Amino acid sequence: MQQTRMLHAPHPAQHRLRARVPEKMLVALTVNGVETRLKVAPWTTLLDALRDHLDLTGTKKGCDHGQCGACTVLVDGRRINSCLTFAVMQDGAHVTTIEGLAANGALHALQQAFIDHDAFQCGYCTPGQICSAAGLMAEGRAKSADEIRELMSGNICRCGAYPNIVAAIQQAMGRS
Ligand code: FES
Ligand code: FES
Repeated sequence: MQQTRMLHAPHPAQHRLRARVPEKMLVALTVNGVETRLKVAPWTTLLDALRDHLDLTGTKKGCDHGQCGACTVLVDGRRINSCLTFAVMQDGAHVTTIEGLAANGALHALQQAFIDHDAFQCGYCTPGQICSAAGLMAEGRAKSADEIRELMSGNICRCGAYPNIVAAIQQAMGRS
């Protein structure tokens, strides 16, 4: 019995670590143009902060491991996988999700292009595809269909809508 207690007794260093890590931390984010303050556990991903704390469920959780791109959002204009960053790491950042792309009641050019080209089937990957494509366009590196395919390769579509997705992005880039 005494041996069992010893096996499960926390190491003194674990005690000290637990004492140092706060249960909740304050994070300031501007999400889709709205200044927001959140109290989250330090290990809360940006993805979970958006979905579970701000009810912005357009951003999807696929793999939760940086493999599928379903969680792509724009942070200070750059596309990132929101499952791979903690919310506290983005303190002070401007975040744009799929809910923030339309402006003044008009769809973003990419949203319209995805509709025009039927660039989705189940739609689960679509918010990530569109946010990633917005980041791609801002980067200005993709000039051809092959470059679009290459630079969008982090966004998986299990329905295989790839040709339509590329066509939609080309339309939004004014290259169709
Ligand atoms: Fe983030 Fe898959 S959920 S990359
Ligand atoms: Fe279904 Fe892409 S439309 S995963």
